[in-house]
Amino acid sequence: MKPLVYITRKLPDEVLQPLQEVATVNMWDKDDVPVPRDILFEKAKHATALLTMLTEQIDKQLIDQCEQLKVVANMAVGYDNIDVAYAKEKRLIITNTPDVLTDTTADLTFALLMATARRLIEASSYIKSDQWTTWSPFQLAGTDIHKKTLGIFGMGRIGEAVAKRATGFDMDIYYHNRSRKEAAERDYGAQYCTFDELVEKSDFLVCLAPLTEETKEIFNEDVFKKMKKQAIFINASRGDLVNEDALYHALTTGEIACAGLDVFQEEPIRGTNPLANLKNVVALPHIGSASYETRMKMATLAIENIHSYLEKGEAVTQV
Ligand code: DGY
Repeated sequence: MKPLVYITRKLPDEVLQPLQEVATVNMWDKDDVPVPRDILFEKAKHATALLTMLTEQIDKQLIDQCEQLKVVANMAVGYDNIDVAYAKEKRLIITNTPDVLTDTTADLTFALLMATARRLIEASSYIKSDQWTTWSPFQLAGTDIHKKTLGIFGMGRIGEAVAKRATGFDMDIYYHNRSRKEAAERDYGAQYCTFDELVEKSDFLVCLAPLTEETKEIFNEDVFKKMKKQAIFINASRGDLVNEDALYHALTTGEIACAGLDVFQEEPIRGTNPLANLKNVVALPHIGSASYETRMKMATLAIENIHSYLEKGEAVTQV
């Protein structure tokens, strides 16, 4: 009997084909609604492999109930939705989708930085709501990007790709990371500094570090107080790196100027997050890697991870 693979969101048939040759593939049939947790449990119980999204919590409770489960292939580079330590204890292989989304996510991060600095969304709404009656000297004036100081918190692959883009804008680049990144220092002139220095120096502070115990709500009240008043905060990593009450306070009392947010503590936002409605916030619905090409590559890599495990006993990008 072929092993069973359960996919938690509808993916295009063309990416499934290689897997269908070696496994029985079952799939949640909606692409815009996550699989309910009770159905996930029922399916996962009989599965050898799961292909999951960041909307599924793969926790101790689920892992304990799935004795046949050998691989969880997450279709994301981040995997904070998975209890990796417990999975390791249970010899469950976890994979993610690094590299294929690096440039796309860096593009979006830089686009968000530019949209926030130059008030692009507000400017577009201004025309669409028919408010443009004349040209005036400071109408919708934003702030420059070129020659400013960019601080990158989390100099992983995406951080480096953002630094590369910033060189084209003659920015001074600083970063803070668990380890020094010599290639980024050499290739993009990025300078290493402490977290406090990064917070104090940055005109644009871009958060790209993964969510861990150490980074959870690292951007708190004290941190926002130390930032420049004209600073722009960008988050394209995970919402939980930020204490959103502290960010709201910082944005409404002028401690910082603006924020560009692709991620939130509670997703999706359904009219309940006051941050998203602030005039000085550009809010996006977690679309960092959302180009058609890249989402196809992420799905393909997640499938390859399962296929490779089933055929060779080894995944391609195990975390
Ligand atoms: C990731 O890959 O971790 C993104 O947040 C989802 O594209």
